[in-house]
Amino acid sequence: MVKIGWSLLHLASATISLSSATIHISSHRHIQTSNIASAPIIDLGYAQYQGVYDSVNNVTSYLGVRYAAPPIGDLRWRAPQSPANNSSAGVQQANTQPNPCPQASTGDASTNPLEGQSSLTRRADAPGTGPEDCLFLNVYFPGDTIPTKPFPTLVWIHGGGYISGGADTFEGSDLLREANNEIVAVIIQYRLGLFGFLPGSEVKANGTLNAGLFDQDFALRWVQSHISQFGGDPTKVTIWGQSAGAGSVLQHIVAQDGQTSPQLFRGAITSSTFLPSQYLYNDTIPELLYSEVVAQTNCSSADDSLTCLRSVNETLLETINTNLNVEGFFGTFLFVPVVDGTFITQRPTEALKQGKVNGKALLAVTNTNEGILFVNQTNPITNVSLYAGTLFPKFGPTQDNETAEIYASLGTPLEQDDAIMAESIFICPSFYLLSAFPNSSWKGQFAIPPATHGEDLDYYFPSSGTPGFNNTQFLAAFSGAFLSFVVSQDPNDKIAPTITPFWDMYSNGSTVMVFNQTVDDLPDIHVDTADASQLERCSFWNSVGALTGQ
Ligand SMILES: *[C@@H]1O[C@H](CO)[C@@H](O)[C@H](O)[C@H]1NC(C)=O
Ligand SMILES: *[C@@H]1O[C@H](CO)[C@@H](O)[C@H](O)[C@H]1NC(C)=O
Ligand SMILES: *[C@@H]1O[C@H](CO)[C@@H](O)[C@H](O)[C@H]1NC(C)=O
Ligand SMILES: *[C@@H]1O[C@H](CO)[C@@H](O)[C@H](O)[C@H]1NC(C)=O
Ligand SMILES: *[C@@H]1O[C@H](CO)[C@@H](O)[C@H](O)[C@H]1NC(C)=O
Ligand SMILES: *[C@@H]1O[C@H](CO)[C@@H](O)[C@H](O)[C@H]1NC(C)=O
Ligand SMILES: *[C@@H]1O[C@H](CO)[C@@H](O)[C@H](O)[C@H]1NC(C)=O
Ligand SMILES: *[C@@H]1O[C@H](CO)[C@@H](O)[C@H](O)[C@H]1NC(C)=O
Ligand SMILES: *[C@@H]1O[C@H](CO)[C@@H](O)[C@H](O)[C@H]1NC(C)=O
Ligand SMILES: *[C@@H]1O[C@H](CO)[C@@H](O)[C@H](O)[C@H]1NC(C)=O
Ligand SMILES: *[C@@H]1O[C@H](CO)[C@@H](O)[C@H](O)[C@H]1NC(C)=O
Ligand SMILES: *[C@@H]1O[C@H](CO)[C@@H](O)[C@H](O)[C@H]1NC(C)=O
Repeated sequence: MVKIGWSLLHLASATISLSSATIHISSHRHIQTSNIASAPIIDLGYAQYQGVYDSVNNVTSYLGVRYAAPPIGDLRWRAPQSPANNSSAGVQQANTQPNPCPQASTGDASTNPLEGQSSLTRRADAPGTGPEDCLFLNVYFPGDTIPTKPFPTLVWIHGGGYISGGADTFEGSDLLREANNEIVAVIIQYRLGLFGFLPGSEVKANGTLNAGLFDQDFALRWVQSHISQFGGDPTKVTIWGQSAGAGSVLQHIVAQDGQTSPQLFRGAITSSTFLPSQYLYNDTIPELLYSEVVAQTNCSSADDSLTCLRSVNETLLETINTNLNVEGFFGTFLFVPVVDGTFITQRPTEALKQGKVNGKALLAVTNTNEGILFVNQTNPITNVSLYAGTLFPKFGPTQDNETAEIYASLGTPLEQDDAIMAESIFICPSFYLLSAFPNSSWKGQFAIPPATHGEDLDYYFPSSGTPGFNNTQFLAAFSGAFLSFVVSQDPNDKIAPTITPFWDMYSNGSTVMVFNQTVDDLPDIHVDTADASQLERCSFWNSVGALTGQ
């Protein structure tokens, strides 16, 4: 009886949606829907989900599909586990965006607390953002019936500095349209901030370091097991992320020394790779972060601090997550991946140098001005040597000075800071990735002014934002390159004709495809080569990787 009542409730809401033509699927967006009841029911073995057919976009979506058990209580800071069998609960309506994992915000301090110049003191309590139970994903396939021809599968990993973001701001149907409806798309969530990236030797001893990366890995394994039920081809998976999502792609490329089994993806796309300092899990900085969390939860006197932390009220931990992250140096993020010794065995740049990679092909795009958002533009550190040392606390006077010397000719001190941030953390890591895929990687540059970090996102997801340059030819060319790569692993093998000229591989003359706009508002897409002086600066950053933690 309960079950019938519940179904009727959904029929009622479907009727309402038909009459009003839209329903709310989250606080962020609406979609047009027709007959909800007609979308296929998919039985995952542990749960059954019915999707929603969107007749305007001719796409069926499954929103908020659970892929792991709630990572709460004793599962905090442990590898994700399979969901409990919920089949007896009947069919679940996958029509609601999942809540994002608990969020925090970027550091905004003028000094770096990890350097010993200041301390991680507690600020006014920020509210918790919950819920911790957030390991869900969304699946999208073209049409209203499960595709019979298995389509290449695209998995999108959201960004947000490993401390923020969620699936609900990325409209999967945009990706399907850009791919001429020839793909299945999956958008995943993963634990963030101290929930996903609590470091330290205690976590190593009785938990899982980099839990957020394990969540992503688990979601990719879910794709291997289940995507064929949605019409996706598990042998043709491409993983794509932006910012920390691209940083995550980098992590999966170097995971398990490039020997991940089974192989979870063939193609990788990075948009503005974010590679912050990634220290060994028991380095002084990760241990400092762990002990701060312990201190702020009053777990210091517990015999077993980690077990104590596992029983701390979720809301309190969320508050501490927010408080601590905002204490970081301006534009930096505190809870990020570490070298854990098993999943990530060494500094990522070392693995890339050794060519120990998962995946067969790579498309890497960076924006011209990646650094600006992460440097305080109104109150910058104008002593560039001091800026370098503040950004990388393990630098000594020699590296501070060397950095300042190398950047001295690049404009004002503020512009030099911008370039240091852009190149060390976003642009150079993208070049290291490209070099790890000789004869199978392509480099793009998004250059439309202001070409700051994140400006490219609206071009992949135009219904989530408004592209600054709303030009049909440009949009088709730019997004078409990515989706062609997803379908056939080569941006030249176009799913539809575009104005983009032949795009040679990066290994052929350091080729870069520049995506720009002329002053007369015309698309300007042309072949260029990587800036040799920038590559020289990248060699410097590569040489100091042991100190930057990259
Ligand atoms: C879940 O339980 C149902 C019965 O409710 C059973 O048919 C199914 O095989 C179980 N699934 C798994 C994965 O054990
Ligand atoms: C590991 O943590 C669990 C609680 O999550 C605790 O019960 C157990 O005693 C711990 N084991 C060790 C060896 O510390
Ligand atoms: C099991 O299904 C019920 C009803 O469909 C749903 O409310 C509940 O959240 C599910 N439980 C889990 C752990 O997914
Ligand atoms: C919807 O998509 C399916 C699968 O791609 C296609 O067969 C069908 O013709 C499309 N329908 C409309 C109305 O475009
Ligand atoms: C940190 O961990 C590494 C590898 O597990 C170990 O060799 C090293 O001794 C540890 N360092 C400290 C200070 O405990
Ligand atoms: C920790 O202990 C101090 C001193 O007893 C107390 O003032 C504070 O409220 C406690 N904090 C938490 C999070 O329990
Ligand atoms: C956690 O703390 C919040 C705020 O203090 C409180 O409302 C909530 O009931 C607590 N939750 C649990 C599970 O104790
Ligand atoms: C830059 O720093 C100043 C002074 O520390 C601060 O007031 C301002 O909020 C910072 N700018 C931003 C964008 O946070
Ligand atoms: C700039 O900062 C460095 C520390 O990196 C310091 O040694 C030097 O004195 C500072 N220069 C000026 C002009 O303040
Ligand atoms: C680097 O150090 C040398 C020697 O101390 C000094 O002359 C030079 O000005 C420094 N360069 C920068 C950019 O601070
Ligand atoms: C973008 O251009 C398309 C086609 O020219 C138009 O339909 C759409 O309204 C434009 N969007 C915005 C936000 O200007
Ligand atoms: C992009 O085009 C603008 C003119 O619209 C130009 O000012 C800018 O330098 C170009 N960027 C690059 C990286 O070529």
